[in-house]
Amino acid sequence: MSRAHDPVPLARPVLGAAEEQAVLEVLRSGHLSLGPRVPAFERAFAARVGAAHASAVSSGTAGLHLALRAIGVGEGDEVVTSPLSFVASANAVLYERARPVFADVDPITLNLDPGAAAAAVTDRTAAVLPVHIFGYPADLPAFERMSLPIVEDACEALGAVHADGTPVGGRGHPAVFGFYANKQLTTGEGGMVTMASSAHKEQVDSERNQGRAPDMGWLDHDRLGFNYRLSDIASAIGIAQLDRLDAMLAARATVAGWYRESLAALVSEYGLTLPCDDRDGDVRGWFVFVVQVPHGTDRDDTIRGLGERGVSAKAYLPAIHLMSFYRERFGHRPGEFPVCEDITARSLALPFFPDMTRDQVERVATALTEALQPSRTT
Ligand SMILES: Cc1ncc(COP(=O)(O)O)c(C=O)c1O
Repeated sequence: MSRAHDPVPLARPVLGAAEEQAVLEVLRSGHLSLGPRVPAFERAFAARVGAAHASAVSSGTAGLHLALRAIGVGEGDEVVTSPLSFVASANAVLYERARPVFADVDPITLNLDPGAAAAAVTDRTAAVLPVHIFGYPADLPAFERMSLPIVEDACEALGAVHADGTPVGGRGHPAVFGFYANKQLTTGEGGMVTMASSAHKEQVDSERNQGRAPDMGWLDHDRLGFNYRLSDIASAIGIAQLDRLDAMLAARATVAGWYRESLAALVSEYGLTLPCDDRDGDVRGWFVFVVQVPHGTDRDDTIRGLGERGVSAKAYLPAIHLMSFYRERFGHRPGEFPVCEDITARSLALPFFPDMTRDQVERVATALTEALQPSRTT
């Protein structure tokens, strides 16, 4: 039970008796890894997003790495992607000594802008890697018209649906989900690659397990691989979480609706920007509630002000190309992707989790109203 003065955390997973029971059963079975829960989780997940195949992996990052390898991205290739993402989507490209080529984002959806992506294509472009950022579906039909291989970063987008009714992850391209503790579904750490191609499935399954094919003998390996396996303990938690996914997604959507009501005055009076509404039939899979403070307001002061009032908030997300590693490695400078830079400089994530109460949302709204006033710089 939360009390008026309890701090409001940024995120909190919903875990209960079903997950506890599922973990106990695995512990008692003694089959902690490479057991039956992994394929069971994969089948249930594939069915959920309408994919022919799914491969469970140890993280979203691992899944991105294997998905890029599956479509043949290699040394010297370029992959066009979004600078407004978690750093893993670009890092995974670098693991294969390919180069992430950034293109600017759409100012409303915050997803990779298909026009900008097309303009970034060169004769070295091997793939496009759109990110369904903050759970909002990227414009896949537009990227599909570019006729390049696609890997989708769906780490933040479980539950999202494209305008044509296809769930994100069900279009056939390798699509990668993440199950870190703040995600719509969590296994603590973990990930899933969904895909249409059985050849891709075979390669991902082999490479996550040190390059061993399913019909090979123990400790025989016919290619280079990694240890990117997901354990049976984690898979059992994933199965239990899938059972409650609809309820958790609905609860997140309800909390988002409360935020829209409670923050309406800040939108009209202060120019606060909220996550975009669903447009043209696309449906967001709610992951985070990220707002943009108006121009002339100091975002970091706002976060500090929220913290002083017991409300956790974070700058989310920073632009990847302006991170020190990317600046030093590739010479990126401010001004290259003005839409992304403007938005990332003003964005912050507010507390957001399925069992957040209306009272907590009101407290965040009150704290934000107070925090925004002194942080106006003009
Ligand atoms: C957009 C995006 N891509 C990739 C990842 C990486 O996932 P993981 O942390 O499971 O490796 C995340 C997760 O935080 C993410 O939000």
